[in-house]
Amino acid sequence: MARITAATVRADFNDLAAVLHYTRAAHGLGLWASERLLIERFFPDREAPLLEAGCGAGRVTLGLWALGYRQLTAFDFAAELLDQARSLAAERGAETIRFLEADATKLLPSLTAAGVAPAAGALFPFNGLMQIPGRENRRRALAGLHAACLPGATLLFTSHDRESSRTERALWRLEAERWARGEQDPRLVEFGDRYFTDENGRTFMHLPDRAEVLADLAATGWTHRFDAARRDIARETSAVREFSDECRFWAARRE
Ligand SMILES: C[S@@+](CC[C@H](N)C(=O)[O-])C[C@H]1O[C@@H](n2cnc3c(N)ncnc32)[C@H](O)[C@@H]1O
Repeated sequence: MARITAATVRADFNDLAAVLHYTRAAHGLGLWASERLLIERFFPDREAPLLEAGCGAGRVTLGLWALGYRQLTAFDFAAELLDQARSLAAERGAETIRFLEADATKLLPSLTAAGVAPAAGALFPFNGLMQIPGRENRRRALAGLHAACLPGATLLFTSHDRESSRTERALWRLEAERWARGEQDPRLVEFGDRYFTDENGRTFMHLPDRAEVLADLAATGWTHRFDAARRDIARETSAVREFSDECRFWAARRE
């Protein structure tokens, strides 16, 4: 069985089940309470140019628009999702949002070609960063976002936490034993990876530990500002909890 690559992940996000799932969320769910709270805390200036990575069908993009942010550039490498985001933006009178098809690991040439000015803030919401297979590639994405932002900009993103509960810790101990024996799923790239299928399609994600995220931020020019579990930030509706498991928010500052 072949290892998971960016092409696998892109094909999974362009698949009908995933497109329906993220489009429904963009139309009906909107911003989570925790996202709204942190967006307003870390991006107080509604006129500042913001860059959103992995915008999917536009759930967060249109949420930002509804909050009054007007200088928005949003990109994704899944063309089918991007089409949905563009039509939702048109439906909501948000034609000035700039949507780009771009890969976060090769970001700067796409932004330069499209004439996108450096951003005062960036977001990679709902685990998009951790859906990039390979740590070097995630670092490339962090470095690309660093290059795309102005000094002092904040980057807001989430991860799923390998250490979030006793059950998770026990499951990951068993997984570590499988890796030690060489008996892990051969499609996985690194310890911490997960690849599963459910009614919303196929999902790859890497679950980092805290030390890994801190090291990756430091290696790519970002200074850690904040991190917290979602449940400690805001109480979410059952619809949000159904859409996304518990996760951790991170904010970092571009030096
Ligand atoms: C979990 S979805 C979140 C979508 C949307 N932000 C939301 O919250 O509904 C993650 C998104 O990241 C995008 N993504 C993953 N890797 C990417 C990459 N290397 N470059 C650009 N987008 C990427 C996927 O296509 C997908 O749309």
